[in-house]
Amino acid sequence: LRAVVLSGGLTFEREVSLSSGTQVWEELVRAGVDAEIRDADADLLPGLAASPTDAVFIALHGATGEDGALRAVLDLAGVPYVGSPAAACRLAWDKPAAKSVVRAAGAATPDWVALPHSTFRELGAGAVLDLMVARLGLPLIVKPASGGSALGVQKVSNVEDLPAAMVSCFAYGDSVMVERYVDGVELAISVIDLGEGPQALPAVEIVPASGVFDYTARYTPGLTEYHVPARVSDAVAARAAELAVTVHRVLGLADLSRTDAIVTPDGEVHFLEVNVSPGLTETSMFPMSVETAGYELGDVLAQLLARRAG
Ligand code: DAL
Ligand code: MG
Repeated sequence: LRAVVLSGGLTFEREVSLSSGTQVWEELVRAGVDAEIRDADADLLPGLAASPTDAVFIALHGATGEDGALRAVLDLAGVPYVGSPAAACRLAWDKPAAKSVVRAAGAATPDWVALPHSTFRELGAGAVLDLMVARLGLPLIVKPASGGSALGVQKVSNVEDLPAAMVSCFAYGDSVMVERYVDGVELAISVIDLGEGPQALPAVEIVPASGVFDYTARYTPGLTEYHVPARVSDAVAARAAELAVTVHRVLGLADLSRTDAIVTPDGEVHFLEVNVSPGLTETSMFPMSVETAGYELGDVLAQLLARRAG
């Protein structure tokens, strides 16, 4: 099996993608795969054409790798890859659209308002802020409508802080999502499909020392405590697993995904978002869940590649 791991790329999450890519490559080599690692730069397609591969592993986070664009190009070039198809990625990448689909499937998700930047010109900033607080209350979570690694995500408790939070999110894209804040235990539920349908792996409970699971808390070893399996009741664990599998199915995802959720004190599991290219760094949750389930990360990734290579 000859595989190419795509890493890096030019997104806000380049460093994370380099770190995921390196770990994927090392694990594949350990599992006996003839793997090479390449940066997803302008030479990507000529490079793939020059040395054909059986399948590609997209260890890329952020636009291009997660929004479906690269996968559409690989489809055109006839290069098989591990993971979800382009159209499903486009849907999952759009957080408000994904929430609509997941809510329509009967799952809980915090209420939200999504706003393109032009809304401020059309309605005026004051009216927009009033509307959000009237609809969603305080505190609020403000995040780029598309993106990862918690970049730009802020909790806003005072309405005066809302404009600055939104301005910093618009730095990441044209649309911002404002969500009702839901307090509870944060879980990450990874899903894999090794050919027998999507199965949820043991959930990771996330306890950041600072109280906020931001970029630094995600990627600095020691700043966040993780509990796998999560310290929740069997009933909550089952509901979390069911949510992650439902999300994987209704969004049309394939091979692997990671759903992020909040469990409220009454035991309800609320969908926050899903990652079609879950972090695979040394501090990431997907590898923790794979290992707790009793698998070797390299073996799982090699199996996914082998299935795609056909
Ligand atoms: N977007 C990062 C890599 C994650 O959620 O794992
Ligand atoms: Mg994410």
